[in-house]
Amino acid sequence: MGKLPENFMWGGAVAANQLEGAWNIDGKGISTADCMSAGSVHRQREYTDGVLDGRYYPNHEGIDFYHHYKEDIALLAEMGLKCFRTSIAWTRIFPEGDELEPNEKGLQFYDALFDECLKYGIEPVVTISHYETPYALVKKYGSWKNRKLIDFYVHYCEVLFHRFRNKVKYWMTFNEINCIVLNPTIPAGIRIGEGENFNQIVFQAAHHELVASAKAVKLGHAINPEFKIGMMMIYPLTYTETCNPEDALLQMKMMDLHLMFSDVQVRGYYTRKAKKQLKEKQVILHIEPDDEKILHEGTVDFLGFSYYMSNVASAKGQKPMTEGNMLQSIRNPYLEISDWGWQIDPVGLRLSLNQLYDRYQIPLFIAENGLGAQDHIESDGSIHDPYRINYLKDHIVQMIKAVEEDGVELLGYTPWSCLDLISASTGEMKKRYGFIYVDRDNEGKGTLQRSKKDSFYWYKQVIATHGEKL
Ligand code: BG6
Repeated sequence: MGKLPENFMWGGAVAANQLEGAWNIDGKGISTADCMSAGSVHRQREYTDGVLDGRYYPNHEGIDFYHHYKEDIALLAEMGLKCFRTSIAWTRIFPEGDELEPNEKGLQFYDALFDECLKYGIEPVVTISHYETPYALVKKYGSWKNRKLIDFYVHYCEVLFHRFRNKVKYWMTFNEINCIVLNPTIPAGIRIGEGENFNQIVFQAAHHELVASAKAVKLGHAINPEFKIGMMMIYPLTYTETCNPEDALLQMKMMDLHLMFSDVQVRGYYTRKAKKQLKEKQVILHIEPDDEKILHEGTVDFLGFSYYMSNVASAKGQKPMTEGNMLQSIRNPYLEISDWGWQIDPVGLRLSLNQLYDRYQIPLFIAENGLGAQDHIESDGSIHDPYRINYLKDHIVQMIKAVEEDGVELLGYTPWSCLDLISASTGEMKKRYGFIYVDRDNEGKGTLQRSKKDSFYWYKQVIATHGEKL
């Protein structure tokens, strides 16, 4: 098996709201993620109106990374990580989102966190907005439904870019930006009332995010021309169920919905096709006169994407379905599924890399990929997770083939996640993704002690050999 170049960014990914905890410490405000109750694969998380008494909100404590970050970064350094993808909690910097002055204590936390990473030679890769919006922006303005959010977000970016200009080089503007049109609650905290026009609301909100992202890219480059500012989307690779042209047509349309986002962010405009799509959905976008110019000037430096599973398009009625967090799919009989019902498809990662690179020819970044599974601690404290190792190994093999055999330009790979943390879709702790086990359960009980899983040692070796020894 081949290996990847010395400068390849092997890393791991997390998101502030899923691990930091300290939800109301040092001036932090309430975010939409703070209002998500606990759920499970069969019980949707409830998005409450603010933080209600007597309810359990798993993200409030997360895995208390806020107070454990030194110990955690030391473990990541021991694994040999070259980069660490995390996000900034917007409400630590702007507790309500619309203040003029940032919260200094929040900035200090990230100063300390990035210093800690840099001390070990770990490059921070920072997502500016990862599935959390200040809840006050939801209450006062309706979140991203409202165009005013663009200015609040850009102001937030401006503060980050100035403050961390010498510490952070790689940025991603929004996590899985295209998911807003699938489920606007988790990504953007948007509530859609009965009788409201779903498509009109979500595509308009998406447009606001796209303009905000473009403005941020332009601003970031002006503040530090060395910045590499990328987009991040879920890449929902979709197969046709059969060679029936009707399946192929549906597959194309399913992908078009998502590629609209990358087209705008990479190419800088809504294509003719995208405009037709919107028309077909009876969406009339309110676009301000300058928006086209802004989108054109704010194209990204790289395309980051998450890839966990693949999907199937079938034009023929009802079929057995599988789970997923943002997307459910028709069951693919050729694939195994995870304990949480997600289809496991390593070859699909190679296809995704090729499809994206064929379309855009800009550097790609695999920002998330991983397996949610239950782990068991042995009496001697060890944790054997061959299922996770196999999942990652199979995906890395395909990733290397995409680079070596197919010629895809790939900057980095940050599997989800470095440490066990709160699941975004279910709010569970027992759905574990990490190389590092964290002693905490679904009810929030546990010592928070960190333990290395077998996958920790395995990934360390993968990084040390640049992917040669899997
Ligand atoms: C991605 C999100 O969609 O999937 C992460 O960006 C999330 O925030 C990850 O945690 C895994 O999904 P889940 O629902 O199993 O946590």
